Amino acid sequence: MSPTQTNEFIAVASTDEIPPGERLVVEYGRRWVAIFNVEGSYYAVEDICTHDDGPLAEGRLDGCTLECPRHGATFDIRTGKVLSAPALVDVPAYAVRIVDNQIQIAGRA
Ligand code: FES
Repeated sequence: MSPTQTNEFIAVASTDEIPPGERLVVEYGRRWVAIFNVEGSYYAVEDICTHDDGPLAEGRLDGCTLECPRHGATFDIRTGKVLSAPALVDVPAYAVRIVDNQIQIAGRA
């Protein structure tokens, strides 16, 4: 299914697939989204760094701060906000909700 509206939640994974401390990259419309489980809370951001397209899901996570593996920019995965250079632009973040054991996300697709 291809989401077309920003408020349409789409199931992208099951909670079993992402235990605490883990992450998973899923296809969401035409984008790749990294979903993180931080102590039972799920967050989703686009898997492409806004600096130079680094694969964010491969970055080191410290709490909710994600470090891009390519040049070290950091982002808050709760909001997508850029926290440190060299990236200057926030990464798109997605709303996440859990329905039964489904992880559903909504946002720009
Ligand atoms: S690509 Fe992410 S900091 Fe450069």
